[in-house]
Amino acid sequence: MKLPQDFIDEVLARTDIIELVEQRITLKKTGQANYQGLCPFHNEKSPSFSVNRHKQFYYCFGCKASGNAISFLTSYDKLTFPEAVEILAHKAGMSLPETSNHAPAKAQTSDFELLHKAANYFKAALKKHPTARDYLLNRGLTPDIIDEFGLGYAPSGWQNLVDAAGKTATSKTKLQEVGLIIQKGDRWFDRFRERVMFPIHNKKGQIIAFGGRTLTTEQPKYLNSPETKVFHKSRELYGLFQAIQHHRELDQLIVVEGYLDTISLHQFGIKNAVATLGTAITSNHIHLLLRLTNDVVFCFDGDSAGEKAAWRALEIVLPMVNEGIKVRFLFLPSGEDPDSFVRKVGKEQFLAAVNNGVSLSDFFFKKMLAQTEIETIAGKTRLVHIANKKLHHIPKGIFQELMFNRLANIVGISQDKIKEILEAQERPAPNPAPPAVYDSGKIGTPVLLALRLLLQAPGLAQRIAIPPNLEEIQLEGFEIIRKILSILNQTPLQTTGCLLEYFSNDPVQPLLMELAAQDLLIPDPGWQNELQGAFERILEANKGEQIQVLLAKGSKKGLTMDEKLLLQRLLSTRK
Ligand code: UTP
Ligand code: MN
Repeated sequence: MKLPQDFIDEVLARTDIIELVEQRITLKKTGQANYQGLCPFHNEKSPSFSVNRHKQFYYCFGCKASGNAISFLTSYDKLTFPEAVEILAHKAGMSLPETSNHAPAKAQTSDFELLHKAANYFKAALKKHPTARDYLLNRGLTPDIIDEFGLGYAPSGWQNLVDAAGKTATSKTKLQEVGLIIQKGDRWFDRFRERVMFPIHNKKGQIIAFGGRTLTTEQPKYLNSPETKVFHKSRELYGLFQAIQHHRELDQLIVVEGYLDTISLHQFGIKNAVATLGTAITSNHIHLLLRLTNDVVFCFDGDSAGEKAAWRALEIVLPMVNEGIKVRFLFLPSGEDPDSFVRKVGKEQFLAAVNNGVSLSDFFFKKMLAQTEIETIAGKTRLVHIANKKLHHIPKGIFQELMFNRLANIVGISQDKIKEILEAQERPAPNPAPPAVYDSGKIGTPVLLALRLLLQAPGLAQRIAIPPNLEEIQLEGFEIIRKILSILNQTPLQTTGCLLEYFSNDPVQPLLMELAAQDLLIPDPGWQNELQGAFERILEANKGEQIQVLLAKGSKKGLTMDEKLLLQRLLSTRK
């Protein structure tokens, strides 16, 4: 989904980069709007990473990493561009635009309608088939919870849905697109047969897919909708919509593995349970969870598969944890899943078990210790090395410090010593700045000054008289000013960070970043006059250049009448 530029502008305008960066690394105030800290993008001992509140921009004088709040999140939290914008939008209390592109929006609406109709069809079928209903009741589900989760039934037979909803070729194609029917040659079949149907909702409550549990011996036990335009398994959590309905503020989310686990927990009043959809947990899931809550409990079976899955979850969550986030693991007694366990022990004891879950750090070190012989020196060294590799994925901050501290205690070496040993094998900066395509040395002084000023404070553009006929100016680098002015003419952006967003794929970006990083020596009250003056000098410099060109041509080939007049005019108006 492509996000509209004005939405991105608004998100950046409502974001404070200082606050964002400070949640991840320690900054020290070094000026009115300036903050400094150790660069998170390369290893260093003295701080060369600077963030500026006015500019809404960061820059490292060491590794040249630079950008605005969005690029900070894409580099630091390893988010994609849309994910970064989404997180910032959420923080700013803005909701994402439905979709920027109208055609897919329409297609999606009809997909949701069709899935909704199918869910109604399955619900009606559940009423007509006592075997299916009895199956659910025998599993302990109440009619209320069956209703709340919209459970249904896909009867036996190969063409129920095809016959009911796919009479025309178009309707068949639509049913296939949302994953409900399958084409084989020139025949069409229902995907789900003799299965209890679990509709999967997105966060907004729209049905986007189904999971179906067989009532026969057919494999697989659970069949899910395929990936479609509206369903991306790795991003959705089953039960999340229902959880959100019950908790305006989600202070905790419990992540389980199954549909029935989720439903049973909800039935027992544990309405903050959600499940992945037959896949291992992904970083998309974790982002989604951490955007909603800062207390996540992963619930796994107590067998070795459960422990493996838990470790995978830990590795995915590490780059996103900090001291504000609580992550725990609950391992159930062997042979139990959350559904069976809650039915056995009840709500209170289940919640007590959740509270006694293993903390992320306990689980981490338990696992680390299990891999190494801590009694030997070689074992200790090995532990330091493996643990260090993992701990480096944690964002710099108190939590990471505490984890290093604990590592130091375990091996009985001071933390400084550990750092010293490890510094020998430092990693290089992950994103070395691309070489500048533009050479600032070739750009004349007034153009460079105007560029610096506009980058420093884009709002200046509204406060000066921009000369007409900018298209005629031929000076080196002036095309960048033209682009900036045309952007600012359409959207009165106020900060460096916002403006630079428009140059994210432009070869001139590295130059702009570098210029934006330099603080002007002229004091602020003078900026407006400076910019006005720079434009006047640009006009003069341009005249000078035009005159040179005309004179050179005149002495070689002679000038046309028009050119002669122009030359006269230029010479007479020159200051
Ligand atoms: P389980 O096999 O643990 O099933 O799968 P369950 O949830 O305990 O269900 P019951 O109690 O046997 O009915 C856990 C989850 O893994 C996914 C489903 O999301 C399921 O809820 N799964 C499992 C599949 O996607 N396909 C399968 O074949 C099995
Ligand atoms: Mn089960």
